[in-house]
Amino acid sequence: MKHLNSLSLLLRQMKVSTLLKSGAVAAVAMIGVGAPVPALAQTDVPALAPLGDPPIPLDNPLSEAKVELGKKLFWDPRLGGDASTACVTCHEPDQGWAFGDSLSRGYPGTVHWRNSQSIVNSAYLGQLFWAGSAASLEKQAPSAAKGAVAGNGENDVMETRLAFIPEYRAAFNEVFGTEWPRIGDAWAAIAAFERTMIVNDTPVDKYLAGDESALSEEQIAGMELFNGKAGCIQCHNGAQATDEKYYNLGVPPAERWEDDGLAQVTFRYELYAKGVTQEMYRVLKDDPGLYFRTKEKADMGKFRTPPLRYTAYTAPYMHNGSFWDFEEVVQFYNAGGGENDFTDGTMAASKSDLIKPLGLDDDEVSNLVAFLEAFSGDELEIEAPVLPPYAPLDSQ
Ligand code: HEC
Ligand code: HEC
Repeated sequence: MKHLNSLSLLLRQMKVSTLLKSGAVAAVAMIGVGAPVPALAQTDVPALAPLGDPPIPLDNPLSEAKVELGKKLFWDPRLGGDASTACVTCHEPDQGWAFGDSLSRGYPGTVHWRNSQSIVNSAYLGQLFWAGSAASLEKQAPSAAKGAVAGNGENDVMETRLAFIPEYRAAFNEVFGTEWPRIGDAWAAIAAFERTMIVNDTPVDKYLAGDESALSEEQIAGMELFNGKAGCIQCHNGAQATDEKYYNLGVPPAERWEDDGLAQVTFRYELYAKGVTQEMYRVLKDDPGLYFRTKEKADMGKFRTPPLRYTAYTAPYMHNGSFWDFEEVVQFYNAGGGENDFTDGTMAASKSDLIKPLGLDDDEVSNLVAFLEAFSGDELEIEAPVLPPYAPLDSQ
């Protein structure tokens, strides 16, 4: 277990550890430990690499006070509709900073329509959400707090609530220099806090930085399969183990959409809200993923390759939580993926050509599973903040 006692310590660590930033360093490190060149390695994809520090946007620099404020806001349900559903409600610390069910819980009266993703290391991603619909943490936070089946909050109401909390008034004033809290600054503070939720000292990081003892023999064998026979590196590559591109693997449709009326309500609502054709609205029984953004048939059923880091804590897996452990995931790939509404040509035939039966035997499957476990390291523990109370404003 890793305890973060002091945010200032974390901020200090982030400043000094610029060492392992570039892929070039990683490549040298791999040669240094004598990693064999895998048989089927793709020459055109970046190798796995140790994770350095996350990028910090120039217009939202980190400071200790901002991170501290963002942390409170992450926990504060008053940034939402009926003050019941904070960010942390669906990104629970002991569930991998995600939510441990196939579909996430939703705003009261709803079930979310996708699996909740981890906040850990989201700071490195250029495109957030399963279908990449937010381009930065600053843009992602309001869509979560305001989304009908997530926070369902109203800007004016949330901003007014902040104004009636003296401790927040003082903190926003200190951090952003405004007399009154502005809702946009709340999202900036949350984003700053998320940029401190980093785990980059996993066994994989240590091994790639030259510590040969960081991985077991089984895990090293798994890594060779990952880079070679199993072909995982084709999409899960670079320091985050994702190319941030979109694929349909044939993940089967969400089971709960078959038998859970409430879950169907949200799915129907999302189809309507995101704008699909009338025919699709009538017949669709599966999540069209990237199609919602592009409206291109070829993008139906495609999702962003997720990072593999911290996933030991974030089961179940995939955009709809279809698989409950790594073994199920690896067996799915071993069988050449699966079938869904967008694989047989009726709606679309967008399944990736890269997904083919792998012919892995039982030992190879368990080596690959062991390697996946090495991407996670210790659990990130952060002490919950005490939330400040409301107080009436002076009448003059
Ligand atoms: C009701 C549950 C719920 C609430 C509340 C919620 N989230 Fe999420 N979060 C999710 C789900 C589900 C996803 C994936 C949704 C998708 O891809 O369409 C997600 C995705 C994310 C991601 C993307 C991670 C990645 O890998 O791309 C981030 C970051 C995030 N949430 C942060 C937040 C923040 C910050 C808040 C509070 C302002 C918040 N969430 C509130 C359920 C929730
Ligand atoms: C063609 C690109 C591609 C290849 C090859 C690939 N993956 Fe994936 N991986 C994805 C995508 C895309 C998803 C999400 C799919 C979805 O939700 O529908 C995913 C999801 C996962 C997840 C679930 C992560 C989570 O947070 O839910 C794991 C674990 C995983 N892959 C491991 C592997 C392993 C192991 C291999 C090699 C056997 C592999 N992947 C090969 C693209 C790929």
